[in-house]
Amino acid sequence: MSFHAYLHDRLHVGQIALEDLANRYGTPLYVYSRPAIEQQWRNFHDAFGARNHLICYAVKANSNLSLLACLARLGSGFDIVSGGELERVLTAGGDPKKIVFSGVGKTEAEITSALKAGIRCLNCESLPELRRIDTVASGLGVKAPIALRINPDVDAETHPYIATGLQQNKFGIAWEDAVDAYEQALKLPNIEITGIACHIGSQITTLSPYIDSIKLLNTLIPKLAQEGIKLRDIDLGGGLGIRYSNEEPPAPTELARIVRNNLTDDSACVIIEPGRSIVGNAGWLITKVQYLKHTKLKNFAIVDAAMNDLLRPALYSSWHDILPLTQHADVTERLYDVVGPVCESGDFLGRERRLALRDNDYLAIASAGAYGFSMSSNYNSRPRAAEILIDGDQARLIRKREVLSELLSGEMPIEIDS
Ligand code: LLP
Repeated sequence: MSFHAYLHDRLHVGQIALEDLANRYGTPLYVYSRPAIEQQWRNFHDAFGARNHLICYAVKANSNLSLLACLARLGSGFDIVSGGELERVLTAGGDPKKIVFSGVGKTEAEITSALKAGIRCLNCESLPELRRIDTVASGLGVKAPIALRINPDVDAETHPYIATGLQQNKFGIAWEDAVDAYEQALKLPNIEITGIACHIGSQITTLSPYIDSIKLLNTLIPKLAQEGIKLRDIDLGGGLGIRYSNEEPPAPTELARIVRNNLTDDSACVIIEPGRSIVGNAGWLITKVQYLKHTKLKNFAIVDAAMNDLLRPALYSSWHDILPLTQHADVTERLYDVVGPVCESGDFLGRERRLALRDNDYLAIASAGAYGFSMSSNYNSRPRAAEILIDGDQARLIRKREVLSELLSGEMPIEIDS
């Protein structure tokens, strides 16, 4: 689904011409559409209808406080993976009872703050982690609610860096060991078993891996029941893909349908942890052409956004649509590599794109709402971009552009003797 459109040759999101934002706030600039984000969240929520369910937005996809606050207001839960994300969700007004905490490496401090906040559940990924959670809970005099994250050894058919449900991945407890692990958990005095979890990867564009993992859960859940373990939550993870170019990912309604048709347990709360599919197509990275450079082999559009702003093309060879903010009928199209100023050949945003460009033109990199800003860095000592939230005819600055003094502020230069 795309949430942008040209109106009189100018690219708009809602009622706002993106060029006006670029002129006002400078570039690189992340822009998000609040209605688009909320609509995507509601699509998930409505898809599960009367089924006991909880949509826990995966904060890592985009953790801007304003976005989290919009989702919290809709009643969203949150999937977090660090103490930092916990802090963000609480600051944004998220309900602790709707927070699930995933991740293979939770520290003592992170477990402590999660238990103190009273979150819904820690998705535990190993026996050593389970023992650590028990110890921390004992110190606090509480029982820790946990789900065990099961690794179903299912191929999510996605980029290898973002597949998580295969045996060779670091995630979860191997499904063959699951019943044993639950037995261990039963013996720990400060652990309260509340659920089972299974996230298999990201940018998943077919339903079959989900069906496979649901079938596996169907075999495990009755075995746990025999041990006297009744599960409140069944967490199927996130991972539903989006359209970057011509992918045709299943809609939330289709995911809900396969859950309805395949999951034997029909009373537990089904948790879904979508990140990308809520914010991905609701965000754009706006950048300005600095130079058009023509060589014998290639044309380069050198822009002011780079791999530090949007790492996905460099890291996963991912494809994002690139659109001019203003269309020119009078400029000849050429094939451009759209590249950033960072000193690496991997610093590209798109390759071989047919564009009609002039100096100083602005471009929008589409589908940049997920894993865009949240994966950005200060590489090459580049301050991170500003962020804008569009809501109808309003555009609000939701994060200031970083300034160089902030980049230097934590450093403590030593005195160098000459
Ligand atoms: N739940 C867990 C436990 C996860 O690890 C993830 C993503 C999600 C939910 C949300 O998945 P989503 O619905 O967004 O696909 N940086 C990569 C994606 C990494 C995903 C990591 N885990 C990218 O830019 O494609």
